[in-house]
Amino acid sequence: MPSTTTDLLAPFPRMRLVDGATPVYQLKELAREITDLGDVNIFVKRDDLMALGGGGNKLRKLEFLLGAAMAEGADTIVTIGGLQSNHARLTAAAAAKAGLQCEIILGRQVPKTNEEYELGGNVFLNKIFGARVEVAEAGTTPLERARARVAELIQTGRKPYLIPTGGSTEIGALGYVSCLYEILEQQKELPIEFDHIVLANGSSGTHAGLAAGLLSAGKSPRLVQAFSTLHDGDTARQKTAQLTEATLALLGHQVALPEDDVLVDGSQRGAGYGIPTEEMKTAVLALARSEGILLDPVYSGKAFAGMLAYIREGKFKSGANVLFIMTGGTPSIYAYRDAFE
Ligand SMILES: Cc1ncc(COP(=O)(O)O)c(C=O)c1O
Repeated sequence: MPSTTTDLLAPFPRMRLVDGATPVYQLKELAREITDLGDVNIFVKRDDLMALGGGGNKLRKLEFLLGAAMAEGADTIVTIGGLQSNHARLTAAAAAKAGLQCEIILGRQVPKTNEEYELGGNVFLNKIFGARVEVAEAGTTPLERARARVAELIQTGRKPYLIPTGGSTEIGALGYVSCLYEILEQQKELPIEFDHIVLANGSSGTHAGLAAGLLSAGKSPRLVQAFSTLHDGDTARQKTAQLTEATLALLGHQVALPEDDVLVDGSQRGAGYGIPTEEMKTAVLALARSEGILLDPVYSGKAFAGMLAYIREGKFKSGANVLFIMTGGTPSIYAYRDAFE
């Protein structure tokens, strides 16, 4: 079923938030810090480099989510996330640009209560971008509270649009269908063929969008290797398979995706979501001290650590070209100063 991105995505309302293709380049200095990587070629796609709101993967999803919200005549975006959610911060920034009100309901998912975590990083930026921020009370999930808030807003004559965790709906995943076609173009320009695309899997929309994009282009979704950071590997695999199928259905393709075609490894999550691991810290410091670029401690740091482990274990063959998606999240590093001391 090969398609082009223009055919596929043209029917969906979209608000442009990302200014063109994000850069792809090879990491040539990393070998100074990590010397046992053999001859695997590591490339990064800098989806952390976007002008709006500090950038990150969520902006690609928000292009389609805000497009849908505005097409429905919404005047308020309501979304949810963990306290240091990057998705919440980027929703606040994108809503500001779109002239929409933004309401954020956060939850305490991570056992961390220091001041920097509670008030700094993304929590601080949500307010700077003008969002109304609420922390769900104990015993209520952010989604329950968000649904109740949506009902309150409707009562007062507002038109809210609810975006669930991480913007990971089939509409949001279209942002990474688009990104996959961008990568295919960049492969031609370099020219290079990527053997693996590696990334963090949180609420699974980024992975699902890439997998749906690959299938729509007649390629294998097994090109994508994710490391789960929120759910255990099996749960993340199931959620990703379902969301990939739903995204393809939205694009007009009915496909039953075998779970084996969804590569998610749960080994890097450590003690849980948002809890630092030694491997994550090593990866963050190595990339910062060789290439001068920042991974985040919750998602991309753990996924990068997973990629390094796969290279060492020989799971990526000698000479392979591996593309790591830098998904952003830099502001949350300020909430993790204690982890690096
Ligand atoms: C910086 C960063 N990287 C990766 C992810 C994972 O993306 P997804 O939720 O689409 O799996 C997220 C969000 O959850 C994120 O904020």
